[in-house]
Amino acid sequence: MSTTRGGPEVRKGLAGVVADTTAISKVAPETNSLLYRGYPVQELAGACEFEDVAWLLWRGELPTAEEAAAFRERLRAHRSPDPRLLRVLGELPGEAHPMDVVRTAVSVLGALDPDAADSSPAAELAKAERLFAVLPAVVALAQRRRHGLGPLPPREDLGYAADFLWQAFGTEPDPRLVRAFEVSLVLYAEHSFNASTFTARVVTSTLADLHAAVTAAVGALKGPLHGGANEAVWDVFAQIGPGEGSAERARRWLADTLAAHRRVMGFGHRVYRAGDSRVPTMRAALGELAEHLGRRDVLDLYDALEAAVREAKGIEPNLDFPAGPAYHLVGFDTPLFTPVFVASRVVGWTAHVVEQRASNSLIRPLSAYDGPAERHLPPR
Ligand code: COA
Repeated sequence: MSTTRGGPEVRKGLAGVVADTTAISKVAPETNSLLYRGYPVQELAGACEFEDVAWLLWRGELPTAEEAAAFRERLRAHRSPDPRLLRVLGELPGEAHPMDVVRTAVSVLGALDPDAADSSPAAELAKAERLFAVLPAVVALAQRRRHGLGPLPPREDLGYAADFLWQAFGTEPDPRLVRAFEVSLVLYAEHSFNASTFTARVVTSTLADLHAAVTAAVGALKGPLHGGANEAVWDVFAQIGPGEGSAERARRWLADTLAAHRRVMGFGHRVYRAGDSRVPTMRAALGELAEHLGRRDVLDLYDALEAAVREAKGIEPNLDFPAGPAYHLVGFDTPLFTPVFVASRVVGWTAHVVEQRASNSLIRPLSAYDGPAERHLPPR
């Protein structure tokens, strides 16, 4: 929406405003595509492990075999959380939202970071790697503490995605679950100037440190119009209830929701108008996962809700729509879906922190004042 009211043009929500250049990813609604450093994201999701995609987003090229091996070694060395972090998290109330646990953890990690005062590109990348390496342990703990369980030590023999699930659930990770999970991590990792990434860039533009930027970005991701949508999607699935007659129940639920002028979570997008380029890849991963687990009922409800929203509103699903049910099937409690998103998007955020700092200009837009005209206190 854009208003002028005789003054300067106001672009509400900065819609349509190009705020800067970036070489990290390209969202192209006209071709319905998303490129990470030039590569279509669906190609990366089909062929790469998440660690290699993280390297690509940070450094611009996929790693060589030697780089990939050394990188994995470094990540393994930083998977276990500092005991001081565990003590702080242990002080949080059991019912604290897992996003608050993760946001607190990032902030504490900033205070504990050995390079806190060093913002050189090399130090920033090292901080990003350490954060990336340890976040699965933090998210896994946020899941486990809800069930009265303590942390599990990471497994040296497992890759990033499999170890993430091991630390969360303590069961031998099923390769099909790991694959669907890894696809979601790749797809969630980066998406240009979305609200949380822009938040990270705004904070970085003040020359604040990387952990400050990521802490703020976690806060931005929590909202239901952004990352919180994946949790809201499964709430809707649970409310409607998969199984016999779900198509009819979905239509009735949608009619009530639209009549009450409520938004359907997991649908619509500020940039994509003809569908989110990541959805077909995640829908396929969800499909394989659901078939493997004998949960065709979840897919039936997915298809029914998608068709009903398309028919009623002409709006397409976004990535949160297939990701929410996938995270449920993988085994996460619903409030953990957005923290999992954090563990992936931290790659994009930190890539943007480094890019912003390399060519910085304080981000400080103007506002058009529409409050009371100048007035004065009564004489005393
Ligand atoms: N459910 C119902 N109606 C929706 C909708 C949704 N999810 N998304 C958009 N619309 C409708 C709006 O009500 C509006 O209709 P109107 O013109 O009759 O008022 C129209 O579509 C345009 O919406 P607009 O608010 O201009 O889009 P936006 O670019 O500001 O919003 C989102 C983008 C993502 C905030 C919005 O689509 C939304 O709220 N989606 C649900 C939350 C979600 O899934 N977020 C994750 C995003 S990846």
